[in-house]
Amino acid sequence: MAKITIDETACIRCGKCVDVCGLARVYELSSESSVPVNADHCWFCGQCVAGCPTDAIDHEAFPLEDCPIIDTATLPNRDDLIAAYRFRRSQRVFHDTAIDREVIRDLVTLGRWAPTASNSQSVDWLAFDDPARIEELSRGTVREMTKLIRLANNPLVRPFLPLFIGREGSRQLKRASGSFDRLQDAINQGEDPIFYRAPVVLIGHGPAGNRFGRDDAVYATYNMMLAADSFNLGTCQIGFFQVMAERSGRLTKQLGLPKGRVPQIALAVGYPRHDFRRALPRRSPNLTWNPR
Ligand SMILES: Cc1cc2nc3c(=O)[nH]c(=O)nc-3n(C[C@H](O)[C@H](O)[C@H](O)COP(=O)(O)O)c2cc1C
Repeated sequence: MAKITIDETACIRCGKCVDVCGLARVYELSSESSVPVNADHCWFCGQCVAGCPTDAIDHEAFPLEDCPIIDTATLPNRDDLIAAYRFRRSQRVFHDTAIDREVIRDLVTLGRWAPTASNSQSVDWLAFDDPARIEELSRGTVREMTKLIRLANNPLVRPFLPLFIGREGSRQLKRASGSFDRLQDAINQGEDPIFYRAPVVLIGHGPAGNRFGRDDAVYATYNMMLAADSFNLGTCQIGFFQVMAERSGRLTKQLGLPKGRVPQIALAVGYPRHDFRRALPRRSPNLTWNPR
């Protein structure tokens, strides 16, 4: 149960803590102050502390010294945000330069400001900067892809593929098998067509069985992707690895994950060789109101 106390002399009974607490209904207003009547319902989102206009709430998980007041004047405006979204690119060509491990720690730490389901904050990271380990993972990914594509091309299996992996899945697999020969060629020529010889590969992982583990990892990663530019770094999400790791216990084992954790996302990180002069157009999403 959360330990919450209210400074009655500071509380102005504005009711904000009651509103932002929503369904947890931790607080009720008495004639003197807000009262944490259901502290056992608290799921530690911290919004009561973040919102209280008079710092009247003392919540054990959110000491005020760890909760700085936001200077709204320093927040990026809409144009700044759009520029950051629009100019981010996936980078696939990197300098050989190693990345300082402290820089990677700083980058990974930025992911923690992303939302997580039930505020679980359970995304952790494996970092690889040993080229031999990265090559192992890359080769393991290609090995698993080879198996999958051989299976998919088996005339006895092919007609039933949509039943197992859905129509879109089998379409994607067909597309991937089209470029598979090039992938094999690249490997044979000593290239790394999976992680692009990035100096660092990050694997975001979470507790096995967490229904929202992927969402949590993706949000954290996107924070990092957007911020990478400010470290002069570039990133590329590597879905190929993730998909194969999900299919293959052998590949997942190569990661050396802590017990009870599963990989949720892979990210190649490095100092990019190229910058991009132009932003690119994108399809506008359909927006449908109140469909039946
Ligand atoms: C879920 C996901 C998986 C991806 N997997 C790969 C991958 O395995 N290899 C790769 O080179 N790029 C991968 N990408 C990068 C996309 O190809 C890229 O985002 C897309 O082409 C748009 O380009 P941009 O990121 O430069 O805007 C992935 C992106 C996402 C969102």
